[in-house]
Amino acid sequence: MQLLDGKAVSAHIKEEIKKQVQEHTWAGKRAPHLVAILVGENPASKAYVGSKVKTCAELGFESTLVTYTQDVTEQELLEKIEYFNQNKEVDGILVQLPLPAHISEQKVIDTILPSKDVDGFHPENLGKMMLGQASFVPATPYGIMLMLQHYGISTAGKHCVVIGRSNIVGTPMSLLLSRNTDPGNCTVTICHSKTKDMAAICRQADIIVAAIGKPHFVTADMVKDGAIVIDVGINRIASDATKSGFRLTGDVDFEQVAPKCSYITPVPGGVGLMTICALMKNTLLANTLHTRP
Ligand code: GUN
Repeated sequence: MQLLDGKAVSAHIKEEIKKQVQEHTWAGKRAPHLVAILVGENPASKAYVGSKVKTCAELGFESTLVTYTQDVTEQELLEKIEYFNQNKEVDGILVQLPLPAHISEQKVIDTILPSKDVDGFHPENLGKMMLGQASFVPATPYGIMLMLQHYGISTAGKHCVVIGRSNIVGTPMSLLLSRNTDPGNCTVTICHSKTKDMAAICRQADIIVAAIGKPHFVTADMVKDGAIVIDVGINRIASDATKSGFRLTGDVDFEQVAPKCSYITPVPGGVGLMTICALMKNTLLANTLHTRP
């Protein structure tokens, strides 16, 4: 069993990005600038946005963090997005999801200018991705593709079972893995809450991508020997062993599943770090497009 080490791979990719930013700024162009908007007090969202802003600083990007309390109106949020849409010094805008129930996530996503939608959630970017056209690709599936590519894992012809059909991970992941690309060319099955006998389907998988947000959902009996297991889950569960009173765990029962795998991602230290890397790559791409002579 080999660990797919998000820490090592993301460090490598971040070094590459850093160099590109330096070359870019030495050539007199402005550094990439990401705006992150956080609404409310969700501790996981706060932690993710904090990591994104910190990584910006590490790579020589500009960043602006805008925070709102839970009761911000939809109108106020949309106006702020419009303001950053018009701002020529801003390359990427992300609004951390989920949002409070009184705000339409789709309206928020639709308001972000597609050329600044570094999350790749806007219908224009998702549509282009479906058509195989150049677009911003959602960060988590993009990060997983970068991870597979880094390890030179051959995916062509493999049966990949994606568990979860969210707009952010499961659905774009299934599309990327089925495309005629490398990595890609998988035969993809999507499993979800209405799937019958999920364990039997998962046992047929050469690659499992677990993205359901349920701790330890994938158990050893669902995994065939030699499978590749990608764990997207970042679940907070109570723990007496940490100062914070919680620890992070994935959607996969790592201890039981890992010995059966050829490759597996740990949590933490796997997909989460790749997601941030992919977001940074998207922001750098946006900056390159915005600062073209
Ligand atoms: N919530 C969970 N994942 C993401 C993500 O990749 N981007 C944003 N904006 N919100 C999220």
